[in-house]
Amino acid sequence: MERLFQVAIDGPAAAGKSTVAKIAAKTLGFVYIDTGAMYRSLTYKALMTGTDINDGHQLKQLLDQTEIELVQEGNGQKVYVDGTDVTDRIRYPDVSEHVSLVSSFEEVRMEMVSRQRKLAASCSVVMDGRDIGTHVLPKAQVKIFLIASVDERAIRRYKEEELKGRHPSIESLREAIALRDKKDMEREVSPLVKAEDAIALDTTSLSIEEVVKKILQLVKEKQLS
Ligand code: CDP
Ligand code: CDP
Repeated sequence: MERLFQVAIDGPAAAGKSTVAKIAAKTLGFVYIDTGAMYRSLTYKALMTGTDINDGHQLKQLLDQTEIELVQEGNGQKVYVDGTDVTDRIRYPDVSEHVSLVSSFEEVRMEMVSRQRKLAASCSVVMDGRDIGTHVLPKAQVKIFLIASVDERAIRRYKEEELKGRHPSIESLREAIALRDKKDMEREVSPLVKAEDAIALDTTSLSIEEVVKKILQLVKEKQLS
């Protein structure tokens, strides 16, 4: 059987992970797996059901009763929680604000990682998140750690909001991004950190096309080696 190929893309919020991961996966014919969407889905369900998000055990019990589906549709990916399309809803500020706390519990992470590894067991994947290269797929053939300055990342998020007709202050976006990064980097279980064998790529002044090109080049090099 042909060996499955794994591309792990990690990095802080709004560094461009999902945008480039999606395009790279499509070009390569691999499956794209957005692990952040899984943590966001659980956070959304916890908020909707009034689950105590400070209690990792309750969150794990909730997760055990929650079906999270990532479905490739056209150029994008839809996210379903228990059959309901939550693709847009899980990006709302209430979810963004609480997702780092929900993601910090070991019980929750163990179950998420088990689901993520199952998704990658039967096909070649591009998976993005925070702990993919360090923990979920430690043997990934290509590992990328995407970064960009926090100012640039706040501007990128602002442009997305603007397209949706919303005009939050760039400063509030910047603060929210910096706070989430801090929580993700400081948590005890699988914190956000560059894997030793990951290639760091600063995208601050790179276009999406340039980042994708670089990733595809790294994959090609590995496939030929
Ligand atoms: O797209 P954005 O960078 O805003 O975040 P995301 O990838 O959707 O991830 C949302 C949150 O989920 C992160 O801030 C982490 O707290 C958590 N997460 C995680 O802990 N581990 C992962 N593998 C992916 C996300
Ligand atoms: O997944 P992550 O939170 O790391 O980032 P994202 O959701 O892909 O958002 C990044 C935003 O920056 C998107 O609106 C992209 O169009 C834009 N962008 C990028 O991803 N990469 C660049 N090199 C330049 C802009």
